[in-house]
Amino acid sequence: MDNKKEIIVCFCEDITEDEIVNAIRQGFTRPVDIKNYLRTGMGPCQGRGCASQIMRLIRQKTSQSPESILPLSNRPPIIPVPIGVLKKIKKQKVMKR
Ligand code: FES
Repeated sequence: MDNKKEIIVCFCEDITEDEIVNAIRQGFTRPVDIKNYLRTGMGPCQGRGCASQIMRLIRQKTSQSPESILPLSNRPPIIPVPIGVLKKIKKQKVMKR
């Protein structure tokens, strides 16, 4: 039996620390590269739960300075928004016309 513990870094996409470290060793040394390769940061939280851990792993495994690692860019909506709120906004726009 394998006693090695799996450490989940990206809970949304079920990506482990080992998978991310392997990606870094293969040359994916930017958060966006890892995102494109493993889908980290593409879950419902849009990377809020895993981005800082991915940047930490990149720093540790590549010895890059924190300033040289570009974080993932945020896409709207910046915070999670219930779908009902978006529906109300659309209705208000339609009513103004
Ligand atoms: S924890 Fe990685 S996208 Fe949510």
